[in-house]
Amino acid sequence: MGVARCGPTGWMVTGTEIPDLLRRPILRRINYVGELAVAPDHRNRGIARALLHQTEHDMCQAGYGALVLGHDRHLTRFYQRLGYTSARRLALDLAPWGHHVRSNRRWWHTVKPLAPEVSLRTVYGSPVLTGLLPG
Ligand SMILES: CC(C)(COP(=O)(O)OP(=O)(O)OC[C@H]1O[C@@H](n2cnc3c(N)ncnc32)[C@H](O)[C@@H]1OP(=O)(O)O)[C@@H](O)C(=O)NCCC(=O)NCCS
Repeated sequence: MGVARCGPTGWMVTGTEIPDLLRRPILRRINYVGELAVAPDHRNRGIARALLHQTEHDMCQAGYGALVLGHDRHLTRFYQRLGYTSARRLALDLAPWGHHVRSNRRWWHTVKPLAPEVSLRTVYGSPVLTGLLPG
């Protein structure tokens, strides 16, 4: 009746913008929900909320610092209500290597920190995820 599929997405695994040195640490700290869907007959009963909460809990236990998704603009409010921050652009603060910026014409990015050392700052209107890598 519902599914949440989680795993690294293309830019994390093969994206040339991420320095090779940082790829493994990033893959250990961010995970990506590639699919969240509930069968039409079962919607609006809290199933997606429960699936996402369980996913967050499992990812937290596994040591991930943040969960990221891509979504259609009309779902911004849906994710906001579940504690996510959505924007056209999402930046990862990879100091001292700089920022890694994701943007996509079709999708919005949404993100939720899962660990106390990870937080979101807003820079020029876009969220920046900090604290992912050891300082
Ligand atoms: C989006 C989707 C996953 C929501 O599933 P769901 O089980 O109906 O969602 P929930 O019942 O857990 O809803 C959680 C909250 O979000 C709200 N919500 C649900 N769908 C929403 C929508 N489309 N827009 C805005 N808010 C929405 C609910 O009212 C609920 O709020 P509440 O807790 O204050 O009552 C489901 O509509 C779906 O499968 N859509 C098609 C696939 C899709 O678009 N997936 C997202 C890909 S990123």
